[in-house]
Amino acid sequence: MPTLTVQNLPGGPINVSSGQTLLRALHAAGHDWMHACGGKGRCTTCRIELVSGSENLAPPTTHELRYLNTGRLAPTARLACQAQLLQGELTGRVPEATKLPHVQYVEES
Ligand code: FES
Repeated sequence: MPTLTVQNLPGGPINVSSGQTLLRALHAAGHDWMHACGGKGRCTTCRIELVSGSENLAPPTTHELRYLNTGRLAPTARLACQAQLLQGELTGRVPEATKLPHVQYVEES
């Protein structure tokens, strides 16, 4: 089963059903993750910074392409509500700007 590791979240790798969005997998694993528009691809608050394994993701959706083309989404990030992990492993990080105040993040060394 594909796995997602978020370096600055506790708890280790998260199982992702093939084709499941990262946001659904994070929620299924009990993690709170900012998603201001409710996962409709209309904000960028759910973005995840990619560290490795981006080749295992499905291509960007039209919502993601819109933000990529206007510079509101970095080429090294994806929208968790849109991005589907198809296979293998993906490693990413919660961006500093979208950390939730009540979540205990893993400190950087
Ligand atoms: S939750 Fe708004 S774009 Fe993903």
